[in-house]
Amino acid sequence: MVNFKELGLVNTREMFKKAINGGYAIPAFNFNNMEQLQAIIQAAAETKSPVILQVSKGARNYANQTLLRYMAEGAVAYAKELGWENPQIVLHLDHGDSFELCKSCVDMGFSSVMIDGSHLPYDENVALTKKVVEYAHQFDVTVEGELGVLAGVEDEVQSDHHTYTRPEEVVDFTTKTGCDSLAISIGTSHGANKFKPEQCTRDAKTGRLVPPPLAFDVLDGVMEQLPGFPIVLHGSSSVPQEEVETINKYGGALVDAIGIPEEQLRKAAKSAVCKINIDSDSRLAMTAAIREVLALKPAEFDPRKYLGPARDNMKKLYIHKIKDVLGSDGKA
Ligand code: G3H
Ligand code: 13P
Ligand code: ZN
Repeated sequence: MVNFKELGLVNTREMFKKAINGGYAIPAFNFNNMEQLQAIIQAAAETKSPVILQVSKGARNYANQTLLRYMAEGAVAYAKELGWENPQIVLHLDHGDSFELCKSCVDMGFSSVMIDGSHLPYDENVALTKKVVEYAHQFDVTVEGELGVLAGVEDEVQSDHHTYTRPEEVVDFTTKTGCDSLAISIGTSHGANKFKPEQCTRDAKTGRLVPPPLAFDVLDGVMEQLPGFPIVLHGSSSVPQEEVETINKYGGALVDAIGIPEEQLRKAAKSAVCKINIDSDSRLAMTAAIREVLALKPAEFDPRKYLGPARDNMKKLYIHKIKDVLGSDGKA
């Protein structure tokens, strides 16, 4: 048993309180490898932004949970080495799907876990989330629950349509479970194809797809029921079209890739939404840079020559998110 405090990590409690009061949101970036982690920590250290490092089930399978945990511990030391005196770094389990998985993460030093029971019948979601909270809170680990289903693939379950969060359920859910934050469904979704072209309009000048707006009325309804309670948005990548174009220019085949417009995320970040999850944008930034190097320098075979530019491109993206979208710079 290792407690996150011994690793220099923090939980989300104070971080979320400050974010809600300050009208900004904390970036929650997924990581699966060293280059992503380096880019995240460099960006957070340079901007003095609190940051949430997220580990998904897929990341655990890919990179090994123990190794990722040690990497996060190393990230705290690295942040200090970069001159960030008091790093505010959370290590979070993304989309935990069982009590056993959440417990194992708590036991190995994660400071925050998500238990995603959003696909379960309501009462089962309540019971599972409550069980995780009761265990995690013994060690001061904070817990994110979820109500409502995002369209697309979530937690390995495919759903064609959103089921928006029902504001009339949120008080009952948070009271019965004791969770510390709540992920809600207001029209975001995972991946790089968040909307079908037929749901979008086309910008006459650029020819680019313009997605429908998020359901801010649902968010308002939730905030009315739960004033000041920390709200989380998953599936919040914006799918930068420059990255999509670079990928396709150098041999990629991304079709109708579209994300959440940044101005909508800026609006959300000013509300009780205090954690915004971004993974796909980092994947796009990494892939675009690698494709470009390999296409322009076909004789190159030193991985550092393409992973280095990929890391730089991700860092640029993270800094942009922190400073220009979420507003978390200078808050740690
Ligand atoms: O919620 C989904 C995240 O983007 C993680 O994706 O399960 O492929 O690692 P993954
Ligand atoms: P994106 O696919 O929009 O980056 O969402 C990531 C996410 O929600 C991780 O939990
Ligand atoms: Zn998610």
